[in-house]
Amino acid sequence: MTALYRKMFVLCATVLLYLTSGSHSAPLSCEELVRPLDQLEPHHLEGRWALVAGSISNLTLVEIFKRRDSSGVDFTTHNGTFTASYTRNKREGDKCHYGPSNISFEGSTFTFDDESPANLTGTFLHTSCPDCLLMHFDVQSKKRFHTYLFSKRRELEQKEMEEFKAQLECLKMPPPVVMDPTKELCPEQTSSEPAAAQTDVDKT
Ligand SMILES: *[C@@H]1O[C@H](CO)[C@@H](O)[C@H](O)[C@H]1NC(C)=O
Ligand SMILES: *[C@@H]1O[C@H](CO)[C@@H](O)[C@H](O)[C@H]1NC(C)=O
Ligand SMILES: *[C@@H]1O[C@H](CO)[C@@H](O)[C@H](O)[C@H]1NC(C)=O
Ligand SMILES: *[C@@H]1O[C@H](CO)[C@@H](O)[C@H](O)[C@H]1NC(C)=O
Repeated sequence: MTALYRKMFVLCATVLLYLTSGSHSAPLSCEELVRPLDQLEPHHLEGRWALVAGSISNLTLVEIFKRRDSSGVDFTTHNGTFTASYTRNKREGDKCHYGPSNISFEGSTFTFDDESPANLTGTFLHTSCPDCLLMHFDVQSKKRFHTYLFSKRRELEQKEMEEFKAQLECLKMPPPVVMDPTKELCPEQTSSEPAAAQTDVDKT
């Protein structure tokens, strides 16, 4: 190698190092943090999800939300379609409440069959957590927003919670209400039980 080539080599290597280290240390932009899920595989939804944390833009509703001890949702996908049954549950003390609906999804967006899209539309957002489901609800055309992080686990790693907090900041949502992972979830509802249906528009 001539001296010139060596100098060019060192220069290129330095630029490359600078670029790659830059992309590692810089915090992710909101555009990267909050982006719709590219493609939702219906079978990914299947089964039970525990609510790990949630945020609601209306602080009155946050207080009501905090009354629940635990919460979750059961998805049963309808084979070959982009629809599923969506049964949310919440426990308040020793009482369990269930709210059954049907959900339809297309790309990253979803709607509920029993709510007009004018009242409620949602987006599945990207999350780096592999066994999580991040749902963002737009209620009554941006009157308020609800953002819920569900997981197959009851409690997430600190770095997963940090990501969620950063995502909420990007969405200009209040800090999350984190569910107590030691509180029992409601049992899965069997069809013989009478449904104490919830009517909340937010679907959790
Ligand atoms: C928040 O929700 C409560 C209860 O539904 C409602 O009365 C209030 O107007 C809402 N606040 C805002 C700022 O939308
Ligand atoms: C699901 O649908 C596929 C094709 O539409 C069919 O081959 C398969 O048998 C179905 N599975 C069940 C469990 O219904
Ligand atoms: C969901 O859809 C199925 C099939 O269309 C229907 O039988 C069921 O009653 C619906 N459930 C609810 C809660 O609307
Ligand atoms: C929106 O939701 C409210 C409260 O659940 C309901 O009274 C109203 O009829 C709904 N509007 C539409 C367009 O579905």
